[in-house]
Amino acid sequence: MWFSIFLNSPIYLLLIALILLIKWIRKNQNYFKDQKIPYLKSPVILGAYADVALGREGVYRKVEQIYNDIKFKDEKYIGMFVFHKPGLFVKDLDIIKQILITDFNSFNNRYVASNIHDPPGCYQLFLVKNPLWKTIRSKMTPFFSTVKLKASYNLIEKLGRDLNYHIMIRFSDTHKKVEFNLKNLTDYFFVDVIASIAYGVEANTIKNSGGEFYEAANSIFDVKKIWRGFELSSLFLIPQIAKYFGFQIFSKFTTKFFYDVMPDVIAERKKSKIRRNDLIDTLIELEDELIPEHDSHTKLDMMIGQVGIFLAAGYETSSSTTSFTLYELSKQPDLQNILRDEIKDALKKNEGKVTYEMVSNSTEMPFLHQIVLETLRMYSVLSFIDRECTNSITIDNGRFTIPKGMPITVPLFALCRDEKYFENPLKYDPYRFAPENIHKIPPLLQNVSFGLGQRNCIGERLGLIQTKVALIMILKDFKIEANERTPASIEFEKKAIIIHSARKLLVDFVKDTFL
Ligand code: HEM
Ligand SMILES: *[C@@H]1O[C@H](CO)[C@@H](O)[C@H](O)[C@H]1NC(C)=O
Ligand SMILES: *[C@@H]1O[C@H](CO)[C@@H](O)[C@H](O)[C@H]1NC(C)=O
Ligand SMILES: *[C@@H]1O[C@H](CO)[C@@H](O)[C@H](O)[C@H]1NC(C)=O
Repeated sequence: MWFSIFLNSPIYLLLIALILLIKWIRKNQNYFKDQKIPYLKSPVILGAYADVALGREGVYRKVEQIYNDIKFKDEKYIGMFVFHKPGLFVKDLDIIKQILITDFNSFNNRYVASNIHDPPGCYQLFLVKNPLWKTIRSKMTPFFSTVKLKASYNLIEKLGRDLNYHIMIRFSDTHKKVEFNLKNLTDYFFVDVIASIAYGVEANTIKNSGGEFYEAANSIFDVKKIWRGFELSSLFLIPQIAKYFGFQIFSKFTTKFFYDVMPDVIAERKKSKIRRNDLIDTLIELEDELIPEHDSHTKLDMMIGQVGIFLAAGYETSSSTTSFTLYELSKQPDLQNILRDEIKDALKKNEGKVTYEMVSNSTEMPFLHQIVLETLRMYSVLSFIDRECTNSITIDNGRFTIPKGMPITVPLFALCRDEKYFENPLKYDPYRFAPENIHKIPPLLQNVSFGLGQRNCIGERLGLIQTKVALIMILKDFKIEANERTPASIEFEKKAIIIHSARKLLVDFVKDTFL
C-alpha cells in the first residue's frame, strides 16, 4: 500500500531521474578511461572550462595550461570534458592538419553554437551549422574577392586619412606629445570602416568619439558587464548551458539596433533597384536565390545575422591587432624606426598616397607584413578554434576513432607560444617571419592566425588590409613612445573572447611628420 503511494509520487520519479543522471555522467566520465586515452580530470558536469565560466581564469591562460600540462607533455591529443561531454584537445600538427584541412568534410561545423531560440545569432556565418553554412559561405565569399576589396579600398583609405586627421587635431603648438588609449582609438576606426564598406553608412565614430554603431559593436563584447561576460563565455565554452538558458550571441542592444535599421535599408534597396555592391546587395541575393524554403521572417533573421557578424568579427579582431602592434613598437624603438623608414620609402614612391598595393601585396612592404604576422602570433586573436565531428573518423594510425558529435579544440594561442616551434616565444620578433627564417616555422603555423581549411576566416585579406592602413596612417606622422602609464607587460582580460588587454594601452604619440 505505502509502496504504491511511493510509486505514484514525484519523489520516486525524481529518484529514478537522479540515478539515470548519475549513471549517464559516470559513463561519460569513464569514456576516456575505457578508450585508454590520457585525459584531463575536471569537475563533474562543469568540465574543463569550469574556472573560465566562473570568471576565475581567462580562456587564454586555461588553453595554455592544458597545452603545457606536464602530465601530457608528449601526448598528441588529450581527452577533456566540455561541460559533461567528452571532447578532444589536439596538440599534434599532423592531426590538426587532418581535422582542419584534409578531412574537413568530417569536421565542417563548429561545436560552439547558439540555438534556434537565438535568431539572428544562430544564423550568422561563424556559428551556423551545415547545410546552411555552405550556402551562406559561398554566397558571402564574392564579397571578399579582389575586385570587391579594391572597390572598398578607397573608402578604407579615406577613413584612414580621417583617423590621421583626428589624431593630428589633438596636437597644438605647445603640445608635442599627446597620450592616447590605443584600443579606444583603433576601435573607432574599424567600426567606421565596417559600417562604410559593409552597410554603406558613414558612422562618424572617430569624429564623434563613439555613436550608435560603436555602441552596437561594443555591446557585443562588453564582457566587463558580469552577465554579458557569463553569457558569452557560456556560448563559447559550454554551449549546453547557453542553450538551456537561451543565451544570445548578439547583445540585446545590438539586436534591436539592427532590427530597427536594417529592414528599411533592405526594403529601400530592393525598391530602388540601385546596386552598390556592398553587403546589403549580397544579402538580397542570398535571400532571393538560396533559401526559398524559409519563411520571410527567418530570411530577415538570416540577413541580419550576417550584418551582425560583420561588425562583431570585423572590428575588434583588427583593433586588437593594431593596438598590440603599436604597443610592442612603443617598447622597441629600433623596430619602429625600421618600419617607419619602410613606410617613408613606400610613400615617397607613391607620391604620399597609401595605395592598395602597399597593403595587399605582402612583398611591397615586407617588414610591415612581418610585424603584423608577429603580432598575430603573440596575440592570437582567438585562444582556440573548435570543430564538431560530423562523421566518425579514425586518427593517429587507427589508435582512436573520433565519434560523431565530439567537440575538437585546436589551441591556437598555445601553439603560437610553444618554444618547440618558436624560439624564445615571449619575445616580439618580426624577423621570425623574414624570408631567411620562415623555414624554421612549421608550414602549418606560418599562417595559422586566421584559422585553417575551408572554415577559416573569410575576412583574412580585409583584416590584413585594414590593419595595415591603420598602422601606416598612424606611423607616417607619429612616433609612438611608452610612458609611465604604459603597462610593462600584458595581462589579458580574463573574460575576453577576442584577445584584449586587461589594462588600458596608454602610449604617447609624438608628432614626427615625414613629408
Ligand atoms: C586581424 C583580423 C582577423 C583575425 C585575426 C581573424 C581571425 C579569425 C579566426 C581565427 C577565425 C576562425 C577560423 C577557423 O575556425 O578556422 C575567424 C573566422 C571568421 N572571421 Fe575572422 N579574423 C579577422 C578579421 C575578420 C574580418 C575583417 C571579418 C569580416 C568582416 C571576419 C569575419 C570572420 C567570419 C565571418 C568568420 C567565420 C567563418 C566561417 O565560419 O565560415 N574576420 N576569423
Ligand atoms: C576615447 O577617446 C575619446 C577622445 O578621443 C574620449 O572622449 C573617450 O572618452 C575615450 N573613451 C574611452 C573609453 O577611453
Ligand atoms: C607584389 O609586389 C612585388 C614586389 O613589389 C611584385 O614583384 C609582384 O609582382 C607583386 N604581386 C602582385 C600580385 O601584384
Ligand atoms: C597564408 O594563407 C593565404 C591564404 O589563405 C595564402 O595566400 C598564403 O600563401 C599563406 N601564406 C603562407 C606563408 O603559407
